[in-house]
Amino acid sequence: MVRKKSLRDVDVKGKRVLVRVDFNVPMDDQGNIVDDTRIRASLPTIEYLMDARAKIILMSHLGRPKGMDPKLSLLPVAKRLSRLIGTQVKFVNDCVGKEVREEVEKLKEGEVLLLENLRFHEGETNGDETFAKDLASLGEVFVSDAFGTCHRKHASVYLVPKFLKPAVMGFLLEKEINYFERAMINPQRPVVAILGGAKVSTKLGIIKNLLKRVDKMFIGGAMAFTFIKAMGYSVGSSLVEDDLIPVATDILEVAKKLEVKLYLPVDFVIGQEISDNTPTKVVPWQEIPEGWKGLDIGPVSVSLLKEIISDAQTIVWNGPMGVFELDRFKSGTFETAKMIAQSPALTIAGGGDTDHAIHLAGVDNAIDFVSTGGGAFLELLEGKVLPCLEVLDDN
Ligand code: 3PG
Repeated sequence: MVRKKSLRDVDVKGKRVLVRVDFNVPMDDQGNIVDDTRIRASLPTIEYLMDARAKIILMSHLGRPKGMDPKLSLLPVAKRLSRLIGTQVKFVNDCVGKEVREEVEKLKEGEVLLLENLRFHEGETNGDETFAKDLASLGEVFVSDAFGTCHRKHASVYLVPKFLKPAVMGFLLEKEINYFERAMINPQRPVVAILGGAKVSTKLGIIKNLLKRVDKMFIGGAMAFTFIKAMGYSVGSSLVEDDLIPVATDILEVAKKLEVKLYLPVDFVIGQEISDNTPTKVVPWQEIPEGWKGLDIGPVSVSLLKEIISDAQTIVWNGPMGVFELDRFKSGTFETAKMIAQSPALTIAGGGDTDHAIHLAGVDNAIDFVSTGGGAFLELLEGKVLPCLEVLDDN
């Protein structure tokens, strides 16, 4: 990957520093923040800038509003951030325009101003150049710290760094890229990928790319059923993507050719419905009856996975092993999270559901790195280049 300049490489004292963060946090119906992980993840950059006496202008999106939507205001985020940094974060009701410029002019060294949700303007998602130039004109230095949005060619994160120089990485973005490189570009071997999720179609790019990079791969979640069917076995009423059976056959062949050890679950927790009230049984993988579907990996698969990762030096995890949102089918995913957390290997994990499961399992502090990205993390695993990283200044 091309080396990019970091915040450490630029002088920010007394300067207006425009920072694109990803404060796209989950909110409940009353407008309360449900999980502030992404806000906390931005603190190293914000606190560094405060200490360096910069004038800090933060901008972010929240949700996917169609125009102005008070439910998706970033005001609650400004309040939470104020508590986290122990000083008042100023807030302005828009992200461009006269009032915003006036607030920016008033900023003193070390103060923090948060702009209103960028997506209240359609120019953000449309990649509008005029909108991007208006944003860019607010700062003298641009810091990109919104890893979770780096796969989107949106105005604030893709165009602003073309119009505002220097344009450098913040500490969160830098950390995300460093961990990814340690795990995927120059890893300690053996490398084990643990993949889950419902559909092969959404993970195809990841499976194909990781087969070139890892020594072992475990495919769990409902994805496994498309592979089991491809091997000629019945999977009862489990979720299968029939159109992807030839692709699954192909993947099994490629794994063999590349000498990647590919594992599938050997038992499943099955139920008749996706519900906590459905009767359940644990069966070997070849014995799922009609009318029943696999909804979690079973205890023997968990033991197998433990064995698979026992000699790992690097583990990458994306995707749940079952319907972990339901008590009856959460065990496989939670056990996987715990095993990874206990491993002495370098462990990284990411993706929206995976992140959520890790938090529910209470092991987020024991995994070396949990990415703050959803789609952005998946695109890195697919081997794609993140466009918003590319546009930053080379080192
Ligand atoms: C995310 O949550 O993955 C990022 O904030 C990007 O959000 P988006 O998928 O709405 O563009």
